[in-house]
Amino acid sequence: MLIRKSPSHPILPSEITPETVYHGRRRFLAQLGLGAAGLAAAACGRAAESAAPSGQSVGAGADLKLARKTEMAGGETPTSYEDVTHYNNYYEFGTDKSEPAQYAGTLRPRPWTVAVEGECEAPGRVGIDDLLKLFPLEERVYRHRCVEGWSIVVPWDGFPLGPFLARFKPTSKAKYVAFTTLYDPKQMPQAGGVLPWPYREGLRIDEAMHPLAFLSLGLYGKPLPNQNGAPLRLTLPWKYGFKSIKSIVRIEFTEQAPRTTWSVSAPDEYGFYANVNPKVDHPRWSQARERRLGELFKRPTLMFNGYPEVASLYTGMDLRTYF
Ligand code: MTE
Repeated sequence: MLIRKSPSHPILPSEITPETVYHGRRRFLAQLGLGAAGLAAAACGRAAESAAPSGQSVGAGADLKLARKTEMAGGETPTSYEDVTHYNNYYEFGTDKSEPAQYAGTLRPRPWTVAVEGECEAPGRVGIDDLLKLFPLEERVYRHRCVEGWSIVVPWDGFPLGPFLARFKPTSKAKYVAFTTLYDPKQMPQAGGVLPWPYREGLRIDEAMHPLAFLSLGLYGKPLPNQNGAPLRLTLPWKYGFKSIKSIVRIEFTEQAPRTTWSVSAPDEYGFYANVNPKVDHPRWSQARERRLGELFKRPTLMFNGYPEVASLYTGMDLRTYF
């Protein structure tokens, strides 16, 4: 996700084997019996955690009460809890993938209030514990694809975004929805000058109302870990991960398209729409293929990340222009 600073990049971020993938290779070799004795021994601990999602340890916090669970990732096995929570992008806590898990402990997800305002008849503020009771919580297993070329499969817990937004009665002037992350340097001392804070994202109102757009409050049946965006974040499975803004404090209905962090920081590299599209490359990374964390080989990327039901949102739009 870094912005191009110089024309020459000796090693592209997408070419660096992520630590988790490296561990995945060790596991793979160990399982095949090809690794050295020491290697197999070293891999044991993590293999036990991540080989079988049903048996893995999934972090702290009371279990969320889930009304239902829906598999929406083509039957794929979810990525291990360990990988989902230790390979993160959350620049407020550092730019290295391992840093959010290390440093996000300073974020305080309670008390927490989300303000919903702008072009709506019933603006308001909702405390996180009330928000948790607004709708039955459900689990959806979604694919999550980062613009950098890695991907994961995650059981997210929460509720659809549309019915939540509808409670605030958006007016006919509400053409877009803008989202803002908390920015508090005391809680986020690692946030450097790499991005203009606070982190902001936005959607067209019809995208926000699409049944796939999800407000996540947990994952793997537990409250969201801080590094994954506690206490609430967006999950937009057909878009690159940077649209899925974390630790939201403000939602605003707007008439004009909101300014969004990455599209303002590097407009040639990150568009407002950011729909997963294997035919439209990022200037520095091919988007044709991706690497699932924990897997050896890259796989083809699917249009809209394998969620063709969103295609009608973009009828008649040139997706190269509106990338
Ligand atoms: N939200 C905030 N506030 N800050 C961030 O740096 N990173 C984005 C997105 N939401 C980011 C954010 C990016 S680039 C990705 S890929 C996803 O969060 C990563 O989510 P994950 O760490 O839960 O996998």
